[in-house]
Amino acid sequence: MDLRDSWTVFFLFCSFLVVAFCGQNGFLSLSCGGTTSFSDSSNISWFSDTPYITNGKTVTINYRDGSLSSNVSARFFPHSRGRACYRIPVNNATSLILVRAKFVYKNYDRLEKPPIFYVSLGTAIAAKINLAKNDPWIEEFLWEVNKDTLAFCLNPTPSGSSPVISLLETRPLPKGSYTKGKEDFTNKLLRMSYRIDCGHINESIRYPMDPYDRIWNGDRSFVPFHATKGFKIHNSFNQSNIVEKPPSAVLQTGRVLARQNTMAYNLPLEGLGDYYIILYFASILPVFSSFDVFINGDNVKTNYTIKRSEISALYITRKRINNLNITLRSVNFYPQINAFEVYNMVDIPPEASSTTVSAMQVIQQSTGLDLGWQDDPCSPFPWDHIDCEGNLVTSLALSDINLRSISPTFGDLLDLKTLDLHNTSLAGEIQNLGSLQSLAKLNLSFNQLTSFGVELENLIRLQILDLQSNSLQGLVPNSLGEIENLHLLNLENNKLQGPLPQSLNKDTIEIRTSGNLCLTFSTTVCDDASSDTPSIEAPQLITVPGRKNHGQNHLAIILSTIGGAALTIFLICLSVFIYKAKRRYEALHKTREETDARNWGAEKVFTYKEIKVATSSFKEIIGRGSFGSVYLGRLPNGKSVAVKVRFDKSQLGVDSFINEIHLLSKIRHQNLVSLEGFCHESKHQILVYEYLPGGSLADHLYGANSYKTPLSWMRRLKIAVDAAKGLDYLHNGSEPRIIHRDIKCSNILLDIDLNAKVCDFGLSKQVTKADATHVTTVVKGTAGYLDPEYYSTQQLTEKSDVYSFGVVLLELICGREPLIHSGTPDSFNLVLWAKPYLQAGAFEIVDERIQGTFDLESMKKAASIAVNSVERDASQRPPIAEVLAELKEAYGIQLRFSESCENEN
Ligand SMILES: *[C@@H]1O[C@H](CO)[C@@H](O)[C@H](O)[C@H]1NC(C)=O
Ligand SMILES: *[C@@H]1O[C@H](CO)[C@@H](O)[C@H](O)[C@H]1NC(C)=O
Ligand SMILES: *[C@@H]1O[C@H](CO)[C@@H](O)[C@H](O)[C@H]1NC(C)=O
Ligand SMILES: *[C@@H]1O[C@H](CO)[C@@H](O)[C@H](O)[C@H]1NC(C)=O
Ligand SMILES: *[C@@H]1O[C@H](CO)[C@@H](O)[C@H](O)[C@H]1NC(C)=O
Ligand SMILES: *[C@@H]1O[C@H](CO)[C@@H](O)[C@H](O)[C@H]1NC(C)=O
Ligand SMILES: *[C@@H]1O[C@H](CO)[C@@H](O)[C@H](O)[C@H]1NC(C)=O
Ligand SMILES: *[C@@H]1O[C@H](CO)[C@@H](O)[C@H](O)[C@H]1NC(C)=O
Repeated sequence: MDLRDSWTVFFLFCSFLVVAFCGQNGFLSLSCGGTTSFSDSSNISWFSDTPYITNGKTVTINYRDGSLSSNVSARFFPHSRGRACYRIPVNNATSLILVRAKFVYKNYDRLEKPPIFYVSLGTAIAAKINLAKNDPWIEEFLWEVNKDTLAFCLNPTPSGSSPVISLLETRPLPKGSYTKGKEDFTNKLLRMSYRIDCGHINESIRYPMDPYDRIWNGDRSFVPFHATKGFKIHNSFNQSNIVEKPPSAVLQTGRVLARQNTMAYNLPLEGLGDYYIILYFASILPVFSSFDVFINGDNVKTNYTIKRSEISALYITRKRINNLNITLRSVNFYPQINAFEVYNMVDIPPEASSTTVSAMQVIQQSTGLDLGWQDDPCSPFPWDHIDCEGNLVTSLALSDINLRSISPTFGDLLDLKTLDLHNTSLAGEIQNLGSLQSLAKLNLSFNQLTSFGVELENLIRLQILDLQSNSLQGLVPNSLGEIENLHLLNLENNKLQGPLPQSLNKDTIEIRTSGNLCLTFSTTVCDDASSDTPSIEAPQLITVPGRKNHGQNHLAIILSTIGGAALTIFLICLSVFIYKAKRRYEALHKTREETDARNWGAEKVFTYKEIKVATSSFKEIIGRGSFGSVYLGRLPNGKSVAVKVRFDKSQLGVDSFINEIHLLSKIRHQNLVSLEGFCHESKHQILVYEYLPGGSLADHLYGANSYKTPLSWMRRLKIAVDAAKGLDYLHNGSEPRIIHRDIKCSNILLDIDLNAKVCDFGLSKQVTKADATHVTTVVKGTAGYLDPEYYSTQQLTEKSDVYSFGVVLLELICGREPLIHSGTPDSFNLVLWAKPYLQAGAFEIVDERIQGTFDLESMKKAASIAVNSVERDASQRPPIAEVLAELKEAYGIQLRFSESCENEN
């Protein structure tokens, strides 16, 4: 489909929506699997369901219903493993909609296998459909609108054959209806059990008699012996207090008991549950009727009196019931009821956090596969490859695919207890997992990982670590032994050598080491021959001392007797050695730090005490990053500063920290936030930056005041030019060249005059001359801004920054964040969504806050450079210098445009 085609489809789709929504008070009526539009006997317009669903097959079902023969179209979903979803746009002015669906099987496939499946609305499992019990089957729900799209899904059961659906309708209901009396029940979906027009005998009443098109059924099957009366209702009825607005046609009939006695409805319910019951009464008799009302034997109203010319209602909830008995007992003549509704209150599970959902979506994109991950990961049913506890994603298992690296997004899945990435072509270092503080099982086996990295020790809850069959080299880090709960460590078939650290030598850990070069606790040096060639040793299991080993007990006793004395001497020597080594190490580092401090000039080095005073004991937090918190501070000279305190967990090694400071302090540019100083004392790594009072670009685009005082297009261009200048300096002006690695709106800060400066190069990596084309290291970054090519090549270049900067430009143009967790799936990712529009010059997607204020040429230029910057292929992206030049031009055009506007006025 070329672009023009997709536009045509888009416009057709839009005009279709207008028709669908404007017909009959916002009704949407879909004939599933139908191909043509038609009007039914109630003059309701029906449409084909194709704009709302893409999968499934269609069929026409002929069946006899009594003497009538009917033809109905249907859509069915054969062999579907995942759920099949209709995505229905909902007018956000409505607060409650009625959703009705009809399911017909009638053995259309001649297989005699009536489908069984679940219907879900949003995250809620709303109903189980069993067409063996009832065929056709009609379900009706009342859904509180909380999103602009309703996901109505059919979820197959393992043995339930293909889900099938024939009709799907939505009808807006009056604001505030169906809420009274159930305030104690929040996050509930109402599933209709009964909607009864008492005393009515003929066909059901619905649209147009009920303007909301609810279906009201007669009550004959429940109380066939009571008297039935039809009455004309007075026009003077005051109905304003009943929000649900039961139609007059329904209220005109009622059940009346014309003597002093008791009248009861007995209604079976489908399973134990919480129910919401509304009883309607209209004074259609010339006398007052007054009576007691009982629900399942509980007296909910004594001497309930229907006042003349009035319609009233009783709202009742009942917890955990499985049948319903509504009884009216006469007090002063004529117990009477006109209508009632009974709803099962179904739980709506909370959604997973948007961070989790974004991260999962990015992971899906990075696999290049369609894993069928849509909507909420945990509810109504967890996605393939994951497990949940409540709305937390606790387990992720992706194997036998090509991931290549553990991308930073994995670090956002904070609730993971199990992560299985075996056989996913992971290479390089184990990285980006340090934040997973709940992780108990980590399986990275059958990959090409070469280095342990430094983050494993942060996984304090880790119990099982499977690293077998990788390419891990060198020594096993001592820090693994500090993971208290670790009880199984599988290192089989790697290229590890040398003694295992003594920290792992405890009887709580089982360590598997076979298939390595030479890996034991013994201190004897491995001979060279064995370390040259990776010999596959016989499988060996190092079980550590303390285990029972009866056969060798006597040997152990002898050895320990002989060895005891020697061992004592050895241990004494060892501890003296360690003590001395430690002293030497400390001395070395002390002098190292001191020299470094001297090199800076005293004004740059702060003591922890000074920092504490400057920040009033870390009183005011102004930011939070993945590395730590940022506090507002004031130096003795009155200058405001931003004080960035690293979490212990994210601290760098001494060398890295010193390197970083060296690098940062050399960088001086008007569009880069400058380093004022630092503090490096024992446990603390603190950076002190100049403070910019204008907040971040993200605040200005999305913050609380972003709508009251929106940034003009000219301001946005100026900010873009400033930021591009800063970035250009990093890429081309500084020595060594620097790749920022985390360009995003929240890393672009504004001063009081809204001049922009780029901040946070704490993550930067310098490009050394020797390795001038790319760096391949740990990449940190932010979901939504990450260069997609990085996933496949693992090579980080300046073009990765250009990509991220392109995303920032798109945000400036469209006024929306890179990833959003609502709306239609194809609008989820800003880049994928905006690119086709901007390429087609369709500027209706430009931020509504600047619509009508921008010069078209200026916008075209900016849009074009933004689109080029987010090219998937890095070589197609322009260098930052070119981006800067284009942005300057766009800014110039807009400047002239704005001036001419002012002159006209
Ligand atoms: C059916 O609806 C159309 C508009 O949707 C209206 O013009 C027409 O009069 C209606 N017909 C009947 C029989 O109500
Ligand atoms: C149903 O369709 C069949 C052909 O598929 C046709 O012969 C029959 O008349 C139709 N019945 C009705 C009630 O439309
Ligand atoms: C509903 O839509 C209007 C404009 O179409 C928008 O201003 C408003 O914020 C939306 N409300 C919600 C709750 O999304
Ligand atoms: C019920 O149907 C009968 C004939 O089918 C009709 O005479 C009567 O008026 C109808 N009653 C109501 C309440 O619509
Ligand atoms: C209807 O009743 C409400 C109170 O329930 C009252 O405020 C209103 O004036 C009444 N309207 C009429 C037309 O009687
Ligand atoms: C319904 O409730 C009434 C009053 O509580 C009771 O007398 C009657 O036996 C009940 N009927 C059934 C079938 O439980
Ligand atoms: C019931 O209520 C009506 C009016 O509210 C009152 O006149 C009557 O005395 C009451 N009857 C009993 C038995 O309480
Ligand atoms: C790894 O995955 C590939 C498919 O990507 C498969 O062919 C291979 O057998 C798997 N290897 C192991 C050890 O599971």
